[in-house]
Amino acid sequence: MFCYIIFINLIDISKLANRKNEIFMLGLKLSTDPRWAIIAESNLEEILTDHAWCEQKAASNAISLIAYNSEHQELVHELTIIAIEEMQHFQMVIDIIHKRGYTLGRERKDDYVNQLMKFAKKDGSRNMAFIDRLLFAAMIEARSCERFRVLSQHINDKELAKFYYDLMVSEANHYTTFLNFARRYSVDVDVDKRWKEWLTFEGKLIQHYGKTQTVHG
Ligand SMILES: [Fe+2]
Ligand SMILES: [Fe+2]
Repeated sequence: MFCYIIFINLIDISKLANRKNEIFMLGLKLSTDPRWAIIAESNLEEILTDHAWCEQKAASNAISLIAYNSEHQELVHELTIIAIEEMQHFQMVIDIIHKRGYTLGRERKDDYVNQLMKFAKKDGSRNMAFIDRLLFAAMIEARSCERFRVLSQHINDKELAKFYYDLMVSEANHYTTFLNFARRYSVDVDVDKRWKEWLTFEGKLIQHYGKTQTVHG
């Protein structure tokens, strides 16, 4: 919640300071070029389809974190709420798709997320793999949040701009939840150090994206 309050305050400050991209960032190293929003808006059926599947995958990720770490009562409780919220987001997106006469296409490959998954540690202790899985989730939430912000500020479609603003706030809360759980459940991981490594890796990775009609592309 603390990070969330900072996040909202920074949005207000950013309007005054005209340094939106630098200030907003949730620690992200690189902001998305607003021209990506124009690319995204040029094919709404495509971006909405990709977005719908992003929400489904976020729900699945929360469920598998629950399944593999069921001994942590608070995590099970909070991630159940997140899984439900992500499927509600999925429902909202497919409602927009159908209302506009589009068709929900097949699931799109998410190369960005696959690259992040490769960066996650899997060969250390069980706790290390668990913490990195939480940081992996936090990373995706942070970038998704930033992308939704870019859409909310730069697309012409008023209904979708509002929709993406609301989702941006929700994903910021998810980001905070995952990062806080990483700090709480760490046994042998320096979470702040490892989070900086994630941010550095993601900052380089995202330079290759921002050119397609997908949430992370
Ligand atoms: Fe979501
Ligand atoms: Fe989320």
